[in-house]
Amino acid sequence: MSRKANIAVLVSGGGTNLQALIDAQKKGVLKSGEIRLVIASNPNAYALQRAEQNGIDRFAVSKKACGSQQEFEKQIIELLERYHIDFIVLAGFLTVLSADFTARYDHRIINIHPSLIPSFCGDGFYGLRVHEAALAKGVKVTGATVHYVNEIPDGGEIILQKAVNIRPDDTPETLQKRVMRLAEWKILPQAAELVSQKILSEQK
Ligand code: GAR
Repeated sequence: MSRKANIAVLVSGGGTNLQALIDAQKKGVLKSGEIRLVIASNPNAYALQRAEQNGIDRFAVSKKACGSQQEFEKQIIELLERYHIDFIVLAGFLTVLSADFTARYDHRIINIHPSLIPSFCGDGFYGLRVHEAALAKGVKVTGATVHYVNEIPDGGEIILQKAVNIRPDDTPETLQKRVMRLAEWKILPQAAELVSQKILSEQK
């Protein structure tokens, strides 16, 4: 069998995007890469149980327990090297990574964000807050974006986007669920496949 790109998925919470990646791997939508490792910034993240249920190696690395950003990133880098990781997927990972870290993995980190960047993104825009802001502004269309990660929060090159219509009766919760189902869970696996193919072709 031909080589696959080794993927690490970094998570902080429920891990529905991790689940979408696992499902895509099973269905063959994600075929050029394989999830080798899951790292959670929160030891109680349900995403860790999803990894366990699917036989994927998993670790919790908490910034609080590490005591500093530097030690936190050092422990993550040790794991990434141990597993020969080619690229990193941030799937609801809520700790900001330093410029040193993002430079070390230039074009080797992708992130899913629950809006159409450049709207409702950057510092402080995460999870439900993004959908609250979209509804407060009264936009009629929102969506999700997968982008490369650089030193600017949500500022890296865009890989894929998908739009989702807002309904008059939407709440932040209903909108979040629809953006996940119609956009995030589709474009994140597609982007992981595209990046896997790109990395493999560069290694030939
Ligand atoms: C997702 O909606 C993801 O787009 C968002 O957090 C949620 C994680 O859900 N990420 C951000 O807001 C990053 N700025 P999940 O743990 O069920 O995948």
